[in-house]
Amino acid sequence: MRTYADNDYPAHHRPDWRIIAGLWPYLTEFRGRVVLAVIFLVAAKLATVAVPVALKFIVDYLEEGRGQEAALAIPVLLVLGYGALRFGSTLFNELRDAVFARVAERAMRRVSLRVFEHLHRLDLGFHLSRRTGGLARDIERGTNGISFLLRFTLFNIVPTILEVALVAAILFAVFSPGYVTVILLAVVVYVLFSVKVTEWRTRFVREANAMDNESNSRAVDSLLNFETVKYFGNEGYESRRFDEGLADWERARMKNRLSLAFLNSGQALIIAVAMTVMMFLAVAEAAAGEISLGDVTMINAYMIQLFVPLNALGFVYREIRQALVNVERMFGLLEQPSGVTDRPDARELQPDGGSIRFDAVHFAYQPKRPILENVDFEVPAGHKVAVVGASGAGKSTLARLLFRFFDVDAGAIRINGQAIRDVTQGSLRAAIGVVPQDAVLFNDTIYSNIAYGRPDATEEEIHRAASLAHLDHFIDSLPDGFETRVGERGLKVSGGEKQRIAIARVLLKDPPILVLDEATSSLDTASEQAIMDALAEVARQRTTLAIAHRLSTIRDADQILVLEEGRVVERGRHEALLEQGGVYAQLWARQHAPERSD
Ligand SMILES: Nc1ncnc2c1ncn2[C@@H]1O[C@H](COP(=O)(O)OP(=O)(O)O)[C@@H](O)[C@H]1O
Ligand SMILES: [Mg+2]
Repeated sequence: MRTYADNDYPAHHRPDWRIIAGLWPYLTEFRGRVVLAVIFLVAAKLATVAVPVALKFIVDYLEEGRGQEAALAIPVLLVLGYGALRFGSTLFNELRDAVFARVAERAMRRVSLRVFEHLHRLDLGFHLSRRTGGLARDIERGTNGISFLLRFTLFNIVPTILEVALVAAILFAVFSPGYVTVILLAVVVYVLFSVKVTEWRTRFVREANAMDNESNSRAVDSLLNFETVKYFGNEGYESRRFDEGLADWERARMKNRLSLAFLNSGQALIIAVAMTVMMFLAVAEAAAGEISLGDVTMINAYMIQLFVPLNALGFVYREIRQALVNVERMFGLLEQPSGVTDRPDARELQPDGGSIRFDAVHFAYQPKRPILENVDFEVPAGHKVAVVGASGAGKSTLARLLFRFFDVDAGAIRINGQAIRDVTQGSLRAAIGVVPQDAVLFNDTIYSNIAYGRPDATEEEIHRAASLAHLDHFIDSLPDGFETRVGERGLKVSGGEKQRIAIARVLLKDPPILVLDEATSSLDTASEQAIMDALAEVARQRTTLAIAHRLSTIRDADQILVLEEGRVVERGRHEALLEQGGVYAQLWARQHAPERSD
């Protein structure tokens, strides 16, 4: 199997166009809205470009009227038109945003769901090495990035380029080519400068994000281990470690800010120089009487109107780069392949009685450390096979392989003759009920936690499962009964209670195959006996793989396997193994020595 480093996606940086192309499907969902938004966008730009023209006509009208005897009429229509255009440019922009908001928000929803589903598709190996805090941050930044990219590439970069071109065309048509030359030069220098500096800054953005993930992971991990922190009085240590993470983050953010200041100043300088040069040209031409006062006003208005969006473009470009970094990381997560996948021609498992066969199975979590070697055994349908052995021998690993949390390295596991590699994971897992070694619960009520075994179960079925798992007494003693909330990961109920809730859940699921991983290890002897009776009842018609620490619970098994360092060293029924006088007999003797009551 593959091994994972902590949150180690993505392996490579993908080109920007691929990220932007990845957004396309989100745009096509609401074609109508996108088209309407573009229409509003063009309307807004036309209105904006027309404002300085209106201004020019007003000034020229006043200029011409001066010195004439007749009282000057106020150019009402022109002034009203000027106001309407101004309002129009804002109104159309707002309409555009309102129409498009739906598209961006739906995209965020879609992509969040996709990431969530993908995370559930990834194999257990990934999840064992993930760091929840950092992962959550990556997803949050990624979805926000998607929304930003959608709103700004389409509605800022493209329209600003359009606007610059329009203004340049107007100036070129009406005035001397000097203005257009200055504008184009300024735009080119501005864009080149912004792109270069922003590229250089991108690594600070990545660095700051990595540091942010790091400190968030630490905070989440520390809070999850709240009790351990208290047991060892290590609040100070935790704070220091968290603060170290924050300090790195602070440094990264500082670099980010300083480089930003440099970028902003450079951009402002380019604009100021260009505006000064254009002002010189305009004033000189006006002084020479080549252009009117209205023309000077219009040129000035265009400069402001042009350089403001250009400046905004600088900001937007920067933010887009940042969003691209964030989205790239999230896409990397989405492209993270799962180590365990369905084959394209995977069939549904037909479990029938659910006979299990391990065929010369070899397995290692890490290449250099074999865990299971040549494990070979069979559980005929309806039979019970028990696995015993020291802690770390590989017993739980057997259960994980059967459930296909990992794929075997050599050999095969078959259920009712079908290799589990060749069937769908869904149908395989539907056939197996697992009572895990350390059950965890959802932060919800006892009722919902049991109902999780089969969400469409009736209340009656849930109550029956609870009493089969010997939960009656416990639940009756609770003031809120079934509605009691169990706390995060089920930390508000005891280990034995948790285990029984886990058993009730599996009873409700009612699968043909049962895997009990030390299912009764956290119970006292009395409730253990009660549960054993219940489990014996459940296991009667089922194929059962029971992993046990206490040998008394598996005396009745049809076959007992003794696992030592990943190899089956003894196998047989209880009595035969005792007679053999080997490892099992020793284990039994140790657990049942007279001075020990287990
Ligand atoms: N995800 C994992 N990655 C690496 N090693 C693991 C992993 N899970 C378990 N192991 C190791 O594999 C060995 C067998 O584990 P397990 O099957 O849980 O033992 P047990 O017999 O006590 O149930 C142990 O030494 C354990 O440290
Ligand atoms: Mg175990």
